[in-house]
Amino acid sequence: MSLPQNIAAVSVSPTVGSSLHDAFARRRTVEPAPSSLRAPRVLHPLENEGLRLLILENISQEAVNTFRSQGYHVDHYTKALSEDELVQKIGSYHGIGIRSKTKITAKVLKAASKLLVIGCFCIGTNQAGVPVFNSPFSNSRSVAELVMSELVSLSRQLFDRAYELKTGIWNKQSKNCWEIRGKTLGIVGYGHIGSQLSARQTETLEALLAEADFVTLHVPELPETIKMISTEQLSKMKTWFLPHQQRSRQAIKSKHIAGAAIDVFPHEPGANGDPFDDQLNPWASELRKLPNVILTPHIGGSTEEAQAMIGQEVSQYLSRYLGYGSTMGAVNFPEVDLRAIAAGQENQMRVCHIHRNQPGVLKQVNDALSPYNVEKQYSDSKGEIAYVMADIADVNAAELTALKQRISSTDANILTRFLT
Ligand SMILES: NC(=O)c1ccc[n+]([C@@H]2O[C@H](COP(=O)([O-])OP(=O)(O)OC[C@H]3O[C@@H](n4cnc5c(N)ncnc54)[C@H](O)[C@@H]3O)[C@@H](O)[C@H]2O)c1
Repeated sequence: MSLPQNIAAVSVSPTVGSSLHDAFARRRTVEPAPSSLRAPRVLHPLENEGLRLLILENISQEAVNTFRSQGYHVDHYTKALSEDELVQKIGSYHGIGIRSKTKITAKVLKAASKLLVIGCFCIGTNQAGVPVFNSPFSNSRSVAELVMSELVSLSRQLFDRAYELKTGIWNKQSKNCWEIRGKTLGIVGYGHIGSQLSARQTETLEALLAEADFVTLHVPELPETIKMISTEQLSKMKTWFLPHQQRSRQAIKSKHIAGAAIDVFPHEPGANGDPFDDQLNPWASELRKLPNVILTPHIGGSTEEAQAMIGQEVSQYLSRYLGYGSTMGAVNFPEVDLRAIAAGQENQMRVCHIHRNQPGVLKQVNDALSPYNVEKQYSDSKGEIAYVMADIADVNAAELTALKQRISSTDANILTRFLT
């Protein structure tokens, strides 16, 4: 997205965002389609048990269709399940897709005897042994578009005028209403969202505040960003401001700041219909009364397109893990992948061994694999978890169960899967 003609943009950010999501996005767009000779072979778990997925919270139909087209059995629910309901059901599923309302507690995981993977379409969890995939950047375009609409809405006091007329008051105004043409937008946090608003870099926040007519904040919640915009910074600003936090109340009351749009709050209601009041945030009622302040219920990323993209991306991660062992994109797991076993290489199979990160494991695994030719192998660790993948050739089908048993019974074993 770029700004309308005649709007300048300046940004401040320590790094320009670059992530695995970007790497995947690039890979998806530039990787040539494999020729028939090099097409990947579709792998199946050794046990050949049909994989069952539990998809909750109305996750997009695209994700469900992707799984079904790959032969998974999918049970799709529109609502979240309670801890007790999950404990009852989870034992028969190999994967689960959730959003923020479902909590995968220790009790649920204990009952999840077959669970291989969690697809997290919103939040993260950090449970040893089960990789979690999410898609934090699929909705940045939606957020950027909301910001653009708010720039115009604040400049024209659109929400106040619209609210007045809905309550029966005609109040035509041009005083303090402005075009955005020729104004400067200051972007704090030039990552996935900020960079879509287009910009040139300033050295310091002070320089940005002094130059910008509008300021928009897109930084993560970190110790150094929590009070990033305080009374001192507000006093350095010109007129307009689109903050995340409540510091601007005094500035708006004193008319130093002409307006604000806020989408994310320190404490947010748990469900639609719950009150947004002083019990939740002690300044809520004061904020609600301020003129030209747009308050929205954390909808920046809430569009049909973003939901569909999250569904596609997370379902791809899950399928790549379940079908090929790849943990690329996992939030809590070492990221391990191997070049695909090509179609026609029927003599090869894949060993996926998740284990505790301790000395001697690779020696044990490679001792077990030593009678076979290891075509390729890769291992990585993250904290207490390590993961090795290996493709081996010319294994006699009759030996597979014993080989799997040998690797599974090593003392560091968490989960061993054979994909054939
Ligand atoms: N309202 C919504 O619905 C919604 C949706 C998506 C994301 N978000 C939130 O928006 C924020 C930004 O998201 P994103 O996807 O662009 O993240 P991102 O990680 O791609 O970008 C964040 C940027 O902030 C920069 N940054 C960090 N600390 C900074 C500092 N002290 N000073 C200046 N820059 C700093 C980083 O270098 C990075 O470039 C996140 O906190 C995210 O949770 C909100």
